[in-house]
Amino acid sequence: MTQKITPKTPFDSGFKLGILGGGQLGRMLIQAAIDLNLYVKVMDSDANAPCRYLAHEFIQGSLMDFAEVHAFGKTVDVLTIEIEHVNVDALQQLQDEGVRVYPQPEVIRTIQDKRVQKQFYRERGIPTADFVLTDNAAAVARHVGFLPAFQKLGKAGYDGRGVQCLDSAADLHKAFPEPGLLEKSVDFEKEISVIVARSVMGAIETFPVVELVFHPEKNLVEYLFAPATITPQLAQQATNIAKKVTESLGIIGLLAVEMFLTKDGEILVNESAPRPHNSGHHTIKANYTSQFEQSLRAILGLPLGDTRAKTWAAMVNLLGEDGYAGNVHYEGMEETMAIPGVYPHLYGKTVTRPFRKMGHVTITDDNMDSLRSKVALVRSTLKVVSR
Ligand SMILES: Nc1ncnc2c1ncn2[C@@H]1O[C@H](COP(=O)(O)OP(=O)(O)OP(=O)(O)O)[C@@H](O)[C@H]1O
Ligand SMILES: [Mg+2]
Repeated sequence: MTQKITPKTPFDSGFKLGILGGGQLGRMLIQAAIDLNLYVKVMDSDANAPCRYLAHEFIQGSLMDFAEVHAFGKTVDVLTIEIEHVNVDALQQLQDEGVRVYPQPEVIRTIQDKRVQKQFYRERGIPTADFVLTDNAAAVARHVGFLPAFQKLGKAGYDGRGVQCLDSAADLHKAFPEPGLLEKSVDFEKEISVIVARSVMGAIETFPVVELVFHPEKNLVEYLFAPATITPQLAQQATNIAKKVTESLGIIGLLAVEMFLTKDGEILVNESAPRPHNSGHHTIKANYTSQFEQSLRAILGLPLGDTRAKTWAAMVNLLGEDGYAGNVHYEGMEETMAIPGVYPHLYGKTVTRPFRKMGHVTITDDNMDSLRSKVALVRSTLKVVSR
């Protein structure tokens, strides 16, 4: 007699969720997984990754190594990622062998390389800034007429690395030599983001639009406000664009769509991330369902949760102070925590470096003006230093 093998559900004993990457995003996924009593296995190359002592099992291994990713994936029922720089061929093979890999390998492949990602938007009629592909520094120089533009490396850039603004011919000497693209500089009013979840069953839910403030030189998020202070029409338009990207990719899981709102009221997609995102950290405290729980619901085939905001919120990234490297110390934590509606979240990194993401602070308030003053107070009070 042949026995039908049904795949384990998240609530069957022995079910294992695998996460590739053991950073802060993985750590917050574990935090949400605990509520559902999920068994979590994590792989990261860093023996001291933030998930190291929180996962049920931690494997030290390279996310770019075919054999290591494949071997890890064979031991779990559902495999997900918290960073897109992983060996996609291994994920593809795991999927062929019956492992549920979400987001799907082909989606990660499209997003992983900014060149492929941008071409995808162009082909699908998704509004995005004009760009040209460049294979090396000489190709960048040939497109001097395209400046001012942002040069972005195809692969391996994140948190502002591998992205730089080239204003004019005088900047050509600093062009990256690797394959990438040149994207027209956008004169934006605001940067906004929408996080979308699409479940195994195809259900879609979006979080309210947030507005992001970036560090002027380092190109990484300094703080955000949620929901964004834009007209309901623009919010609807941004949400529709984010949904269109989600449906075009056919992703199962979470997709964060970063967009520019131009001074002419146009919305252009900057880039997307197929995982929980910095622009959704406030949802842990400020929304009925956090982006992390929503991600689990999406990839585990569960009903999606209520994404509504309970309150106005801001999120301030705790970045390592410039000029400090070494064992971390959080200066002003007591004063910060004395402010009502202020909730720090530390990632468990022992060593700070300039601009390293060490944690975040969520700030809630039912009044936008006092929310803004609390953001200023937190930013001037709390410092990530070393000692
Ligand atoms: N075409 C552009 N015009 C104006 N500003 C841009 C442009 N492209 C990027 N930037 C600025 O640089 C930031 C980082 O760019 P991008 O999102 O492409 O890089 P990233 O390194 O993948 O970012 P992260 O990992 O922090 O999301 C943007 O959020 C924006 O502030
Ligand atoms: Mg970005």
